[in-house]
Amino acid sequence: MSSIISRKFLHILIIVAFLWLVGCQTAPSTFAPKGTAAAQIGRLWWILFGLGTAVYLVVMGLMLLGLFRPGTRLPFALNGRRLIIVGGLIIPLIILIVIYGFTLTTLNALAPEKNQGLLTVEVIGHQWWWEVRYPDQQVTTANEIHIPVGQPVTLKLASDDVIHSFWVPELHGKRDLIPGRVNDFWLQADEPGEYWGLCAEFCGTQHAKMLFVVVAEPQAQFDHWLSQQQQPAAAPASELTQQGLDVFIDADCDSCHTISGIDATGDFGPDLTHFASRLTLGAGAVRNTKGALAGWVVDPHGIKPGNLMPSSDVSGPELQALLAYLESLE
Ligand code: CUA
Repeated sequence: MSSIISRKFLHILIIVAFLWLVGCQTAPSTFAPKGTAAAQIGRLWWILFGLGTAVYLVVMGLMLLGLFRPGTRLPFALNGRRLIIVGGLIIPLIILIVIYGFTLTTLNALAPEKNQGLLTVEVIGHQWWWEVRYPDQQVTTANEIHIPVGQPVTLKLASDDVIHSFWVPELHGKRDLIPGRVNDFWLQADEPGEYWGLCAEFCGTQHAKMLFVVVAEPQAQFDHWLSQQQQPAAAPASELTQQGLDVFIDADCDSCHTISGIDATGDFGPDLTHFASRLTLGAGAVRNTKGALAGWVVDPHGIKPGNLMPSSDVSGPELQALLAYLESLE
């Protein structure tokens, strides 16, 4: 008896958890597609869910009938051998063929070759951040992909270390980033907005904090962003920011980070040329604010344990100067 109750309780718990997840407003949801690819994947999901539910209800109904009304005659003389042939062979075959058809059609419609964009973006996975390059425009950024709204954008996915997986739930399905090869992919957002993406393949300690943002904006706004990103880094405009640049060099930040326009060409960590224009810090670990940046520089492992950036042993005034400089890199 107690096991029946606990099983019933478990079922209720699963249903509540399901409804709660479906209704979740803050996390990016595949149930709220904002792009053509996600919409088609969503449609396929609902077809599978609908067919699965129908089969479940019919089978459960037959089972209950067998339990409580044994000997009931089914319509169309579906009894004995006939039930096995129709219900166990013909109907499942039809359902599987329908699913196969819908799946092939969806896969075909989502093929990268059929959705070539005018713009190409290279995304390279690192433990635990995303390098983002616009090769034709010679722009490099990190953890943030700006795209023009309403058109497909071609993506080239690669990895610098282990297997990662690129996923923007509201825009498309998942695609792996595999060391030693380039995977074709594409994204399209139908409405302007910020869409959260994440790494969907366990890739080490900070897999959970390997996030990124897709910023979809109208063409003119996107062009403006791109031309701004093409500029070299802003030169220090005050004594404080000049001191900050000196601290950046003295503390060896340049051995891992590139800032174009000054002699900093490290490529182990994210390019910081337009760091201040980005929304997040540490691949989506925190919002890019001055306070968070101070915490990040002094103790990056407090925010993201295990990440590969060493803490910096800078004095208070040095830190203030460094923050002022980094915040000036619009
Ligand atoms: Cu990268 Cu998980």
